[in-house]
Amino acid sequence: MSYPDDLREQVDRHLESIRFSEEAATSGLEEAMRYSLLAGGKRIRPVLCLATARSLGRPIDEYLDIAAALEMVHTYSLVHDDLPAMDDDELRRGKPTSHIRFGEAVAILAGDGLFAEAMRTLAAVPGDTARVLEAVRLVAGATGVAGMVGGQYVDVTAEGLDADQLLRLHSLKTGRLIEVSVESALAYGGVAAAERAPYERFARELGVLFQIVDDILDVTGSDEALGKPRGSDERHGKVTYVSLYGLDRAGELATASHDSAIAALDEVEGRIESLRSVADYIYRREK
Ligand code: IPE
Ligand code: IPE
Ligand code: MG
Ligand code: MG
Ligand code: MG
Repeated sequence: MSYPDDLREQVDRHLESIRFSEEAATSGLEEAMRYSLLAGGKRIRPVLCLATARSLGRPIDEYLDIAAALEMVHTYSLVHDDLPAMDDDELRRGKPTSHIRFGEAVAILAGDGLFAEAMRTLAAVPGDTARVLEAVRLVAGATGVAGMVGGQYVDVTAEGLDADQLLRLHSLKTGRLIEVSVESALAYGGVAAAERAPYERFARELGVLFQIVDDILDVTGSDEALGKPRGSDERHGKVTYVSLYGLDRAGELATASHDSAIAALDEVEGRIESLRSVADYIYRREK
């Protein structure tokens, strides 16, 4: 396993340093937001953002706030995903979920707060205004109706999806946020459209790969390793890559997807080693 641990450590240090307010009256809300944010996820989205900055030869420091904003959006999506009205899960990142620890109302507000603070953090990134604005627009778009939230809607309302519909659901629900982790770094870096194409192909494939592996791990993993309840998809009658294709075929699809991601990355001109390590990590991860 060669996940870029140096980038993950920088993300963790930066997230740890972030405070949202000095106000005593809201310190409980801040505690709930930090509880989920610092519970120790894999940090795939912020690490992808920083690995993209590295591939462009840009200073990592300048991208830390964009990376943090991506992790805040992701954490907000997890807090709400676990709520009783959604997946009703009690374990996340190896700890009791937000609503179990703080109650439902505070968990909802902690998610709301993380999303708003993510947007504030992004919009406050110093530098070329047009580039910053594009990054804000991209991240908000990947979170909204044509992204994560739209995908969650399809997930909770759809029944009996076919293979194409499943791919579409996942590309919205989890794919868009993974893609935008690369795209926001390209936007902030002022990378021209023509140069973005192979990165975008890589990021799109990575979103697919991530979800195939997530579905496999939901069957083959353990609560301890995953830090969340195994078998959640089956309990909720979810159509997944495993329910649709079986474990063996899902594994083959993961391999094909990893191969495609690496092929796209090979078209990128730049220092691609860290991006390649992230792709390998997503493919081989056990949690
Ligand atoms: C879990 O995401 C939720 C999905 C999008 C399927 P991760 O597997 O990236 O979770 P953390 O951030 O490591 O906890
Ligand atoms: C949730 O998907 C993805 C988002 C939070 C957008 P899942 O419901 O499959 O995620 P896990 O398995 O609970 O982490
Ligand atoms: Mg869900
Ligand atoms: Mg869930
Ligand atoms: Mg899942």
